[in-house]
This record gives sequence, C-alpha cells and structure tokens, in this order.
Amino acid sequence: MIAKAIREQARDLRAELVRYEYEYYVLDAPSIPDSEYDKLFARLVALETAHPELIDADSPTQRVGGSPSGAFAEVRHREAMLSLGNAMNADEVLAFDRRLRDLLDQADDEPLAYSCELKYDGLAVSLQYEHGRFVTGATRGDGRAGEDITANLRTINAIPLSLRDDVAPPLLEVRGEVLMYRQDFAALNEAQSEAGEKAFVNPRNAAAGSLRQLDPQITAKRRLRFLAYGVGAVEGVDLPDTQHGLLEWLQSLGFPVGKPHETTRGADGLLAFYEKVALLRPDLPFDIDGIVYKLDDRALQAKAGFVARAPRYAIAHKFPAEEALTRLLAIEIQVGRTGALTPVARLEPVFVGGTTVSNATLHNEDEIRRKDLRAGDWVVVRRAGDVIPQVLRSLPERRSPELAAGENSFVMPAQCPVCHSATERDPEEAVWRCVGGLVCAAQRKQALRHFAQRRAMDIEGLGDKLVDQLVEADILRTPADIYRLDEATLTAMPRMGSKSATNLLAAIDASRQTEFARFLFALGIRHVGEEVARVLAAHYPDIEALAGEDFDAVLERKQEAQKENARRRPKGEALLPVPLEGIGPEIVASVQHFFAEPLNREVIDALLAAGITWPAPQEAEVASDAGSAALAGLSFVITGTLPERSRDEAADLIRAEGGSVSGSVSGKTDYLVAGEAAGSKLAKAQKLGTTILDEAGLLALIEARRHGAHNGESN
Ligand code: IVH
Repeated sequence: MIAKAIREQARDLRAELVRYEYEYYVLDAPSIPDSEYDKLFARLVALETAHPELIDADSPTQRVGGSPSGAFAEVRHREAMLSLGNAMNADEVLAFDRRLRDLLDQADDEPLAYSCELKYDGLAVSLQYEHGRFVTGATRGDGRAGEDITANLRTINAIPLSLRDDVAPPLLEVRGEVLMYRQDFAALNEAQSEAGEKAFVNPRNAAAGSLRQLDPQITAKRRLRFLAYGVGAVEGVDLPDTQHGLLEWLQSLGFPVGKPHETTRGADGLLAFYEKVALLRPDLPFDIDGIVYKLDDRALQAKAGFVARAPRYAIAHKFPAEEALTRLLAIEIQVGRTGALTPVARLEPVFVGGTTVSNATLHNEDEIRRKDLRAGDWVVVRRAGDVIPQVLRSLPERRSPELAAGENSFVMPAQCPVCHSATERDPEEAVWRCVGGLVCAAQRKQALRHFAQRRAMDIEGLGDKLVDQLVEADILRTPADIYRLDEATLTAMPRMGSKSATNLLAAIDASRQTEFARFLFALGIRHVGEEVARVLAAHYPDIEALAGEDFDAVLERKQEAQKENARRRPKGEALLPVPLEGIGPEIVASVQHFFAEPLNREVIDALLAAGITWPAPQEAEVASDAGSAALAGLSFVITGTLPERSRDEAADLIRAEGGSVSGSVSGKTDYLVAGEAAGSKLAKAQKLGTTILDEAGLLALIEARRHGAHNGESN
C-alpha cells in the first residue's frame, strides 16, 4: 500500500506541472522560471520511479512511451479534413467577400464578420479526444484518412493529454497545425551539423521529418509545437456560435492558439489585418505563409457550404511569392517514366521562399523558347509557399555579347541522353520523348520506382537508390523481375545486409496480395493515375476483361448517352446512365496502346504468374456498362435538414446509386433534395424550375428508377 500522503503528493505535482505547461505553451506567460519546472518534474519522476504503481498515462512524465513502430496505421477521420481555397491578391479577397454576401443575401450596409487567423506553415493534424482524454492523433493524409501518429503527438508538450475543463465531451476532434518555432529549428540545425548530419531546409520540413519518425523518442527531442484552429467531429457538447468563440473555447480546454487573431468586419477589415500581419511577420516566432479568413458566424458557415474539397466560408490569403535573381548554369535533360524528356534548369544556388534552390523544372521546349532561356543567363527564380521553384524569365539586358548573339540557344537533343535512342516530338504535344521504352535505363528506373511506390504495389525497402543500382546491374529490367529477386542477389548489392534483404523479400512477397486498382496504377499506363485506375477497376473484374474491352464501342455508347441526356434533361425525362464516367478518348487511346504492346502483355503475364492477386470484386461493386445504378447520370444538390439521414448520408446514398452530388444549384442540377430550413438553394432551384424532392421523394425516385431500369426503361 502506498501511503495516502505520497499519492497526494504525486497528484499535486502533476496538477502543478500541467498548470505550468498551460501557462507556458498556451498563455505564453510562464509564472515560474524553467529551472523551477525542471525541479518539480524531476521530483515527480523520482516519486514515480520509487512507486511505479503511481504512474498515470496522462502524467507529464509519460509523454514518451512505447517502442519504435514498424509503420503508421491508417486512421479514418470522423469528419473529412478539408483544404482551403487561395486568394493571391486583394482583388481575390474582395471577390471572396462579395461571393459570400451574395450567397447569404447579406444587406449592402451590413458587412460580414470574419475571424482572421494566421496561416501556420506546418502540418495539419487531427487530435481525437474521448471523454476528455487524448486517444488518437493523425496526419491529414488524403483528407479522409491519415496516418496514426499518436505516439509522436503525445511527445508534443503543447498538446494536452487530457482536457483542462470539466467539459469532457464523449468525442472531440481538434484540428490544428504542428510546427517548429524558428528558434528551435535553428538550434536543431546547429545540433545536426555538429553531429555531422544533414541540415533541414526549413522549419516546416524539420517538423514533417520529426513527426514522421517511427521512433517517438526522436520526435520527443525535436521540440515541436501545436496550434489549434478548429474542430472536426464533436459529440455531446454545444459548440460556441462563432469561430472566435471556438478558438477561445479551445484555449480554455488547454490548446494553444496562434496570435494574433481578430474578428473584423467586411473586406476592408480583412485587408487591414493582412497588412498588419505582413509587418509583424518577420518577428513572429514561427513561419506563416498567409492569413486565413473565416466567416465568424458558424451557422452562416454551414449555410455557405462547400466547393470540391474546400469550404466556401473560408479562404487563405497567401503572402506574395518570393523571387530572387541567379545564374542559369545549364539546361539538362531528364528522362521520365514514359520517356518524356524534361529540361531542368541547373541554377547557381539561391535562397528564395525560405529554401535554397538549385534546380527547377523548365517543363518543355516551348516554355524555354517562350522565356528565351540560355545557359549562362541571369534569371528570376520564384518559390511561392511550398510550390516547386520556377524560373520566371531571363534578363536579356545582362547577356554577354556571345549569348546575345545566340550562343547557347536551346535545342532538344535528337538522341536520348541516357540510352541514345532517337527522340521524337508528337506534333500534338509539347513533349519530346525517347523512343527507347524499356531499353532506356532511365525509363526502366522510373517505371520500377513507380511500380514499387507506396500508393502502387507498396514494396517497402525497394527505394529509389536500390532500384537504380539493380537496373544498372541489369538485374531488374521489368517489374516482373522484382518477383525473381533472391537473397544472394540482394546481399551482393552495396550496403545491403542480410536483414534488409530478408525484410525486402518479405515486403515483395506481401505485395503479391494487392488490389486491382493499385495493380493497374502500378503498371504506369499513361494517363492512368490512381483515380482513373479506381474507375477502371470498378468496371472490370480483371486484366482480361479490361484488355479485351471494345473501347471504341464504349466511347460511342457514351457519346450517344450524353447526347440523348442533353435532349432529355431540359424536359425532365429520365436520363440514361453514362458508361465509364470521367474516362475520355485520350485515356482510352492510351489504355489501348498499352495493351497492344506485346511486351506489356508479357510483363503482365509474368507478374500474374509470380502470384500477384487481388480479391475478386463483389457482384454489386462492378457496375456494368448497362448501368444498373439507378441514379446514373443525374446530378443532385442537398439542402436543409432531412428527417431520417444527415446530408452526408444522403449524398453517400446518391453516389452509391451512381448519381453525383454538388454543392450549388445550377442549370445542370437535375434534382434538389430539400429538408427542413432550406434557404437560398431552395429559392434558386425554384427560380430555375429544378425538380424538388424531399427525403421520401428521393427514396421513391431510386425505387422507381430501379424498376424502370429492369424494365428496360433506359432504351
Ligand atoms: S482552417 C476547412 N485555419 O492550411 C478549413 N487552416 O489548405 C480547414 N492551416 O493544411 C483549415 N493555418 O492545416 C485553417 N488558421 C488556420 C490554418 C490552416 C494553417 C492549414 C491547414 C491546411 C491548409 C488549408
């Protein structure tokens, strides 16, 4: 039994430390010197060491726990993590305000209230609290699901392990940004260089690198910060009515919020805040890349709705792109996966937009000509935010007489710089290509890297360097060769021990169980990105079905359906399903071209023979071309509160039936599904004469069309 006095002492120490952390990280107003905090902390560690039964997972001493993990698991966000639209200048800010005023029918003499916040240049994370305790933290990922980085986030002192207030909602997702203060970044880089390690280019990269450590012990040493800016899913608590109220509430729960933030009115207020922060920016303790303006009234936010992956109620006003002058040392040619020759500018290293830039893509021949770039020129380089660096223009007035006379004018090489095959330019395209295909080592390397990458076959351990070495040693020629690698071959490669080889072979083996969409994407067919691969995989059960498809007939049917629908839509008649939505002639031509190539078929056969498989699709998942989907080709908008399901659920239902859902009513909208308290969208739909349904009407429509489809209505 531990004496009650000791237990109480530990409890008091913890409460004291948590309070000092709050003062330090959230209020920015420590009441005691750091040394005092350290002393109390050491005392608690001593107590807990002597009495391990006293340890509590939420104790400030328990931030670093667990051992390094092998990988990050996936976490689905309860509510999607959206992104923001950008405004690059004052005009676009005015347009943003005007758009919202129109949308919300705001009176002319009544400016809208906005919450103005800094746009932190870090990494978006979502922190999930259950009953007041931090349980899961995740990266943004693709917005719907991210990676579980809980162990790393726990090491960030600014993130409370338990909420301060008595308010402990059953569920609270807090959204914010993890970043590194400039001062801590400088210290880290100094330590890195002392240890002979590579320096990080900027605080954002340092934060990203630290957060993605598989060993939380390393993250713990990195002094990361967190700043909250919003919430995701919330249950069991009434949120404040305004964004600024929400920020105050988050702060009262123990989350740091970046300063300054302000509520202002109208576009003038937004721009005044922007100007003010632009002056403060160099003195802020952390990097920002702009300002975020959000409608302050959360009810109005909900009313404003969303476009694509961003809310209409908010916008990021970016700081102007940063530009610098440097020398263009040379124009080199890189060969990509599909043989495309990309000219790359080698630059005299220059510090711009927070990073040292020494390379920049020049895209293609036409662009070089348009900008009139010659090796040896002075050029303007721009790096805006985290956009890749660009060469904007040359300064012809600074040219030497030789350059001015036309020396070093750029010409595309007639031979591939890697395999010396001929190069050609498709007259329809701006791109030159090497015709060497898999003969070309550069294309092979890229194709293999693409095949092995995480989003494709996900072969961990088959990194770029190793692929390059294996191609150079002529061990890997096609992706199928990956499945013939053995330990002896691998351990003969430089810096490859038997442990890494075993791990890699296990990863290769694991990749045999995949998904059809991943496999299709991995093949590297031109124009077949992840999305297109997903659409194709949903329509065809396997390679044979896809390769054997009569695409010309499909395209023809598609065109007919689209034409017929254009005739039917204005009359409100039932629409035909459109086959292979989103897949046009360009993609089709590329898929056909790919399968017409015997070498490609051989590689696929070899891959399948190596045991690559994927789960057979469920009946219902493979949408037939006849389009059993009841709502195919129809476009919906949902507004107001529906009696039985949330708008998201209704949207899922519509999509599952093949329909599309958009955020705003237009002439193209077929149906508006309206619930309780529908506002401007309902009015607009009425004005346009769009068919309006309630929730029951939607279900009836699906029912009717299902039967209609079975009765051959679509003919
Ligand atoms: S609000 C639905 N507020 O900017 C709106 N985002 O493209 C969600 N960011 O990666 C974002 N500071 O992590 C919001 N004060 C701020 C922000 C902020 C930085 C990041 C965010 C996201 C990106 C938005």
